[in-house]
Amino acid sequence: MKTVTISTLNKLKQAGEKFSCLTAYDATFSSQISTAGVEVMLIGDSLGMVLQGHDSTLPVSVDDIAYHTQCVARGNKGSLVMADMPFMSNASMEQMLINAGKLMQAGAHMVKIEGEAWLAEGIRELTRRGVPVCAHLGLTPQMVNQFGGYKVQGKTEEAAQAIIAASQTLVDAGASVILLECVPNEVGRLVTEAVQVPVIGIGAGPYTDGQVLVLHDMLGVTMGRTARFVKNFMTETDSIPAAISRFHQEVKDNTFPAEEHCFQ
Ligand code: KIV
Ligand code: NA
Repeated sequence: MKTVTISTLNKLKQAGEKFSCLTAYDATFSSQISTAGVEVMLIGDSLGMVLQGHDSTLPVSVDDIAYHTQCVARGNKGSLVMADMPFMSNASMEQMLINAGKLMQAGAHMVKIEGEAWLAEGIRELTRRGVPVCAHLGLTPQMVNQFGGYKVQGKTEEAAQAIIAASQTLVDAGASVILLECVPNEVGRLVTEAVQVPVIGIGAGPYTDGQVLVLHDMLGVTMGRTARFVKNFMTETDSIPAAISRFHQEVKDNTFPAEEHCFQ
């Protein structure tokens, strides 16, 4: 695969072409996922749940993400590598800059940070120093205790408008990508139309420019019930590489996500 950069994602958005993203945590899967043409690999703090067995993402450290980023970077065949800034890694501006620097030096091409419009100042400082940022809005799992559970966000008109406005503010501050989690289809559509930069969705409907899933979820490797937006791609294929390729193809064709994976 030709090396994917932020410019590649922008071109895909301009051309109205979809792109795919999967989480990756190790070198072998990284090699398989990037070989399948999946444009973006995310070292998600979901690793706290799927690899470490915690019941939230809060215990994940910057060193955990840096270690898995190094592993993924070694196996990568050309995908854009995005690393999650874990819980409280941006407790102060200084800590945020130092921690983002660690993830970039571990092999990330950009970082992802959860938050709302208040992230603007941090995004400005990071981009100024050469760290591209993906701003994660909607259901931000690091806020699970504040939200009182993992709940669909942006359901009221007011909440929807707040997500759209925050996305615009963060793009104006320099965010290169927006990621929306668990919002109604209409919010996914409105944000994707409102901002110039690529928008990646998970449980955000079929209108976003890209789609992301947690690797284990889409391979049906889980410890219990899965979210509505998850599809197990192993049921229609006979190998892991085939399931990854199928996911990529269904995102490209816009057949994933289907209505049953969405929130109306
Ligand atoms: O940590 C993660 O895997 C994520 C994706 C689900 C977007 O943030
Ligand atoms: Na995450």
